[in-house]
Amino acid sequence: MRTRARHEIRIVARRVTGFLCADLTSHQGRRTIHISTSHTTRPVPSVKVVGGSASVPLARGIAHEISVGFVDVAFEKHPGGFPDGERYVRLLGPVSGEHVVLVQTTHPDPMIVEFFLLADAIRDAGARRLTAVVPYFGYGRQDKRFLDGEAVSAKTIAKHIAVDCDELLTMAIPANPEILKTFPLPTREVSGMPAIGRYLKSAKVDVLLAPDQGALRLAKEASSVAGVPFDFLVKKRIDSYTVKIEPKALDVRGKSVGIVDDVISTGGTIATAAKELKAQGARRVIAACVHGLFVGPAEANLKACDDVIATDTVLSPHTKVSVAPEFAAAIRALK
Ligand code: R5P
Repeated sequence: MRTRARHEIRIVARRVTGFLCADLTSHQGRRTIHISTSHTTRPVPSVKVVGGSASVPLARGIAHEISVGFVDVAFEKHPGGFPDGERYVRLLGPVSGEHVVLVQTTHPDPMIVEFFLLADAIRDAGARRLTAVVPYFGYGRQDKRFLDGEAVSAKTIAKHIAVDCDELLTMAIPANPEILKTFPLPTREVSGMPAIGRYLKSAKVDVLLAPDQGALRLAKEASSVAGVPFDFLVKKRIDSYTVKIEPKALDVRGKSVGIVDDVISTGGTIATAAKELKAQGARRVIAACVHGLFVGPAEANLKACDDVIATDTVLSPHTKVSVAPEFAAAIRALK
């Protein structure tokens, strides 16, 4: 209740002072972001970008793309940080009266706390509008209550983002994107497929493959950018570490194939698909994902692939593609 009241007070305060720039309208009881479709190269007026420690390179990239200032943040009060691992943030530049874009992936868990500390500090420093860019939305997987008493964790995180933020941009949420419509602030999913499609085009793949039906829309979009056809497999998940793929003949003999997925976590999905492709005669297999978590046995699993690429939504040694242009276009399109 306290949280909601604080959010509403901030929205009202900004409305009263005429500072609420987001075009919020009610649609069947939900608020939606209205965006324009024109992408230009002009600087976005009076915007500053702040990056949380999970997303500094991407935040800098976004600031560069939209030609606006970047506000540095200190993440340690003293070298080595707090002995108990608690987070610390301090804005090192002014944001009073500005439209601030806060870029921070909410994974792993301490990065969620850092997001809230930064959002609060930005508001206390007098920002007039705060756009949350959450490149990888940690806790996005649980988009419904499967058993009584469970938290719908995607909505829980969104509810707390809404305390200080006016709108949310995120990418490839690892759940049914319909969940975004239930969030208590205007939310838009930005696609990372143009960036992945561009990389796979330059890597000269012959065909793209979705490792399951959930990734079909991603492979379809990336294929239109890469200018190659796509196919898909049907996956059955046995448990968190084990997947099975239904037998299917693919036209991949002698070809270079790109596998496209939203997330690589344990690498089980990609490894199973890659082995099937190699068994059917694929010459080369490149695994591409938006969010590379690479947990547990991932590195061993990914040896089944000739190359692995991930975007900068989550930083890892496989980060080879930036989605800064995609988020920059979405920020430019905000009303
Ligand atoms: C779920 O179906 C997602 O699209 C990914 O395929 C999944 O999260 C990948 O997980 P893992 O790498 O552990 O197989």
